[in-house]
Amino acid sequence: MVKVARDLCLCRQLRSSVFFMRMRIPENQFIDAVKFRDVLGHLPTGVSVVTANGPDGPIGMACNSITSVSLTPPLVAFCPAKSSTTWPEIRATRRFCINVMAGHHESAVRAFAARGIDRFGGIPTIDGDCGPVFEDAVAQIDCELSAEHVAGDHFIAVGSVLTLKARSERDALIFFRGEFSAIGR
Ligand SMILES: Cc1cc2nc3c(=O)[nH]c(=O)nc-3n(C[C@H](O)[C@H](O)[C@H](O)COP(=O)(O)O)c2cc1C
Repeated sequence: MVKVARDLCLCRQLRSSVFFMRMRIPENQFIDAVKFRDVLGHLPTGVSVVTANGPDGPIGMACNSITSVSLTPPLVAFCPAKSSTTWPEIRATRRFCINVMAGHHESAVRAFAARGIDRFGGIPTIDGDCGPVFEDAVAQIDCELSAEHVAGDHFIAVGSVLTLKARSERDALIFFRGEFSAIGR
């Protein structure tokens, strides 16, 4: 009888510690990666190529995580993956140029997302203080790296805006549900 009572007590303790463990696991641990990508893919974004003047020549990577952050002072941000090999090179220069890509830039963007190719081979650029400038892009935002935060498997890179320019007559490139399209007025 004593043994049954002890077992019952142990069983309750175990149950409550399992419950406690469940409570402590953050709910987002149960979000499926495929579902996360799929749902977030429904968020339409613009597409940019972030460039910099590397020690051995121009560097750049395609990014759709650009966002405006602050007006006073003027700040923007984007999220490079921790797995990116280009971001550490951009970070080392402390400056970067965000080229907001135009409707006709799909193949250029694909090149700036690929590895093992000359990313700058297919697109004319001019030299810029913070990085190569794509003259036929929709906008350019020259930045100085002002902060970097760790956020899961990405960083949040905050850029202090130095100069910026837009070409309002151009269509912009949009990324939505894994596909590119152009959007104008
Ligand atoms: C439309 C699009 C948007 C992308 N956005 C990002 C992004 O916001 N952050 C990021 O780290 N990589 C992004 N990538 C992936 C990078 O462009 C690139 O593939 C990755 O950085 C690997 O190259 P790397 O090792 O030279 O950095 C995006 C790719 C595409 C096609």
